[in-house]
Amino acid sequence: MSGHGTPTPMISRPCGPLQGEAHVPGDKSISHRSLILGAMCVGETHITGLLEGEDVLDTAKAMQAFGATVTDHGGGKWTVSGVGVGGFAEPDQVIDCGNSGTGVRLIMGAMATSPITVTFTGDASLNGRPMGRVTDPLALFGTQTVGRQGGRLPMTLVGAADPVPVRYTVPVPSAQVKSAVLLAGLNAPGQTVVVEKEATRDHTERMLQGFGATLTVADTDEGRVITLDGQPELAPQTIVVPRDPSSAAFPVCAAIIVPGSDVLVPNIGLNPTRAGLFTTLQEMGADLTFENVREEGGEPVADLRAKYSPDLKGIAVPPARAASMIDEYPVLSVVASFAAGVTDMQGVKELRVKESDRIDAMAKGLRAAGVTVDEGTDWWRVTGLGHGNVPGGVTVASALDHRIAMAFMVMGMATQDPMRVDDGGPIATSFPIFERLMGDLGAQLVRETA
Ligand code: S3P
Repeated sequence: MSGHGTPTPMISRPCGPLQGEAHVPGDKSISHRSLILGAMCVGETHITGLLEGEDVLDTAKAMQAFGATVTDHGGGKWTVSGVGVGGFAEPDQVIDCGNSGTGVRLIMGAMATSPITVTFTGDASLNGRPMGRVTDPLALFGTQTVGRQGGRLPMTLVGAADPVPVRYTVPVPSAQVKSAVLLAGLNAPGQTVVVEKEATRDHTERMLQGFGATLTVADTDEGRVITLDGQPELAPQTIVVPRDPSSAAFPVCAAIIVPGSDVLVPNIGLNPTRAGLFTTLQEMGADLTFENVREEGGEPVADLRAKYSPDLKGIAVPPARAASMIDEYPVLSVVASFAAGVTDMQGVKELRVKESDRIDAMAKGLRAAGVTVDEGTDWWRVTGLGHGNVPGGVTVASALDHRIAMAFMVMGMATQDPMRVDDGGPIATSFPIFERLMGDLGAQLVRETA
């Protein structure tokens, strides 16, 4: 879906204690991959707990356009009847991935080694994001690309008719790039090897193994070396999607900064390549407990309890942790505003090429709300004012970015005066039940209508 129509401003007012259970939606990364891998095997994949946000729904539509049958059975239950590795049909329409970098980059990889021509587009945010990071390695398989200047969408890919396997060292810490190369490697003969210097989320590796591909991972001096045997016959799976730790971050951080709060977030995926925020919050003095730790569907899962944390302090977040919490820096910067002292975030230049330039978007809004923020190309620093001392009382831009909008809505729950975002529409891309869920806990969120 390109764009989401008329902007809908949202207000978050300071509120009383947040209390209760927060059943956040399914994991976005795993949801995209469930649909794509389901489409790449012959037979029916059953998915429970799929995230029904706009990003994932766009991927579901795309898989239909490639010839898979995707059926919504209601209540988060979906089936995908796939066409097999190398079985994608050529879509007769442009593939519109809306706001989703994950959607477009993974689908580009999945189609890149099939002899079909596909044109991709997205909304204003996605059409401004760099695609060269994916099309460069895909070219090594023999895929051709024509796009706008700077490697931007809209863009047409001509899949390789005779793909060759690839060995590729990912130059930026990006699970999307790694995954695009692995998905392309599925339909190339021989072994495709991806090397990543910094470990990024490993859902693609885990899920490929789950779907029956032969994939090995070795930690070497060169980095994490992932080797995939090409042209496997993938077997359909039954997938229970864990709840998204990146969505859990919002009620968790809200509970930490709103006095008197006690919130339980059940069934959270705690894959170590995703859980960096929770370690960071604990180092800052947050009251978090992991209950009922277990493994489900190959992913570690727990129930996470977050309580108001009166003694929050700023810390230096280790750069080595960045990849495991890359989507959580916006809401972390909100928590940092309520901490005592400085929170220093280094090695985060990837934040500048997300749905928005997230350092810029957060710095502008935090400064407007009375918080001091310093920034450089790949770092930023928030000087906390302590609980009760953050003024707020301003309207800030959400920059077509769901996580920016939600971060400022969390902030307004504990500022002295309400926070308003110019557009809450993007929240529907990843967390369509955000307002209701936060409202049920006690938040005071209001969406303005025209
Ligand atoms: C994702 C990877 C990350 C993350 C995004 C989801 C994925 O992006 O920010 O929200 O599912 O692979 P990068 O690959 O750009 O780091």
